[in-house]
Amino acid sequence: MASVPTALGAPAERREGLEKVTGTARYAAEQPRPGRLHARPVPAAIARGRVTGVDTAAALAVPGVRAVLTHDNAPRLAEPDDPTLSVLQNPQVPHRGWFVALVVADTPEAARVGAAAVRIAYDAQDHDVTLTDTHPDAYVPEEVGGEYPARAEHGEPEEAFGSSAVRVDVAYRVPPLHNHPMEPHASTAHWDGERLTVHTSSQGSTVVRATLAELFGLPEERITVVAEHVGGGFGSKGTPRPDVVLAVMATRHTGRPVTVALPRRMLPAVVGHRAPTLHRVRLGAQSDGRLTSVLHEVTTHTSRIKEFVEQAAMPARVMYAAPHSRTLHRVVPLDVPSPSWMRAPGEAPGMYALESAMDELAGELGLDPVEVRVVNEPDREPDSGKPFSSRHLVECLREGARRFGWSARDPRPGSRREGPLLVGSGVAAATYPVQVSPSTAEARALPDGGFLVRVNATDIGTGARTVLAQVAADALGVPLDRVRIEVGSSDLPAAPLAGGSSGTASWGWSVHEACTRLTEALAAHTGPLPGDGIPARADTAGTADADSPWARHAFGAHFAEVAVDTVTGEVRVRRLLGVYAAGHILNARTARSQFVGGMTMGLGMALTEGSTMDAAFGDFTEADLAAYHVPAHADVPEIEAHWIDEHDPHLNPMGSKGIGEIGIVGTPAAIGNAVHHATGARLRELPLTPDRVL
Ligand code: MOS
Repeated sequence: MASVPTALGAPAERREGLEKVTGTARYAAEQPRPGRLHARPVPAAIARGRVTGVDTAAALAVPGVRAVLTHDNAPRLAEPDDPTLSVLQNPQVPHRGWFVALVVADTPEAARVGAAAVRIAYDAQDHDVTLTDTHPDAYVPEEVGGEYPARAEHGEPEEAFGSSAVRVDVAYRVPPLHNHPMEPHASTAHWDGERLTVHTSSQGSTVVRATLAELFGLPEERITVVAEHVGGGFGSKGTPRPDVVLAVMATRHTGRPVTVALPRRMLPAVVGHRAPTLHRVRLGAQSDGRLTSVLHEVTTHTSRIKEFVEQAAMPARVMYAAPHSRTLHRVVPLDVPSPSWMRAPGEAPGMYALESAMDELAGELGLDPVEVRVVNEPDREPDSGKPFSSRHLVECLREGARRFGWSARDPRPGSRREGPLLVGSGVAAATYPVQVSPSTAEARALPDGGFLVRVNATDIGTGARTVLAQVAADALGVPLDRVRIEVGSSDLPAAPLAGGSSGTASWGWSVHEACTRLTEALAAHTGPLPGDGIPARADTAGTADADSPWARHAFGAHFAEVAVDTVTGEVRVRRLLGVYAAGHILNARTARSQFVGGMTMGLGMALTEGSTMDAAFGDFTEADLAAYHVPAHADVPEIEAHWIDEHDPHLNPMGSKGIGEIGIVGTPAAIGNAVHHATGARLRELPLTPDRVL
């Protein structure tokens, strides 16, 4: 086939952009059907105990209320793998906000009034929601992230630390954090005879279908799960959530289409949160700056019903060369909602602690913070001893320093004053692993000269449709506008979720493979194409980290400039700049948005986002956007995202690494380090709100 300019890397505009900005893109709750009902859950008002009685009379008397489901009358479910989905099956209350009833009504308004009228009696027990370093129930789990040992040790880290010439021994705290995607979790379910169709706001509908089949005892072939447009997820939609289970229960109970759209205030209790992390970081170094010992020990919490461990000590296994090291996770089961994934689970809080400690070490050494990272650059992955498939952290640091104007910085803290403002700048490194999952895809050459690519990818706002069309056009050697793409339905070839920054690599690999096979089939074909075209399918295996001879990670460097108001304690970020080494960047426009979005979320983590567990009520006190402050436009300065064009042959046919998460990773530490440089004060607990700064 004649060579055509590659579509890969071009800043192609997102294909669904017009639909989104004109409001014609339909989301999961926006699926009107004749006779559709609306259901609203009732959250538990105790933190631990059991329901002893549900009085539904007043709720059923509300005009428009059709049914109230409780553990007495709700459809029975098979035991799920994920205990958080076992809703309305028994009277136990494992945490405040757990759903104990569901009101189904003609309108959302009637459902809300009905839900408020449900009277629930409880047998409340004492609860414990307070995480401490010394909690007696703390234990070291076997694994973190479902794959890695929770503890790893090399050499004699304590002894080596004790005898190091320069030492930093510091503690950091990151509070619970909440995922608040623009679109709260929602599902609409209905039956067509024996066939169940569900529209849900999910990062991966293949797994939602499998879960519903298991829970409701249905064959997968009778279920279609659609996630056509999804308004963000950040991990909280990476697994099915109770809304989809309740929608299917309610449609089964009533025989009518039902929408469950969770009010934002209900999200923190039922869609996972970033668990709080207590960090102790010890860094021992020689006087030339080279690390002798790295110890990163993390204590976090999980719920009583599900073990999830925020793997915050993981990045210390990747970042710096040191002959002695310990990384350790401890977890405390509490009467709290089940934590789960939130953008860069592990790396985001872990690198806040490690990269803040590296800045403290640079101060102790009298070394430039960029240089202290450069001198500790490893030639192999420190923990595994594997060679890196590619690692250009030093290049990111150097390029970032050049673009940021780092060399003009006076290293002395508190040295730059503008009236009541103290101004400073900081740097931090970032890393995120390369993950690739098995996927399938189909490509079809059509008689009209076009190509149709089908894959159950999910576009959670990232531009997945657009990038996959580029991958296909590149593999087919045709212009981008000849490729049509279908994503977002479990009726399409099965594909993994949009998570772990692995979507594009996983889906793209199978799309690339299907298109390559189709090209071969077309080369062998003579005469006109049959009416339904010529198809080719691919089933790609992905790559498991444990089997690979390579350590594969993306890297980046973050630079921040802040102004701290000495009167009000307010921290304003003036500039953020990130430089990334993440393989081949497949779409310059959507990639930039991903990086900038991650950095914006990191800015929120640094300055405004934080949740607290109310010890008396056993509840998060910041449940909605009035109390949980995500950055507004006025908080976000000009953010620059740049990248180094990295050629890594050990990844996938596109040569790409994931880019969805790394933008958040180094941003909080870069901002915290800038606040220290501005003021001379080292704050070790996020967020850096005015009360802490003053
Ligand atoms: Mo991401 S936290 O893997 O959706």
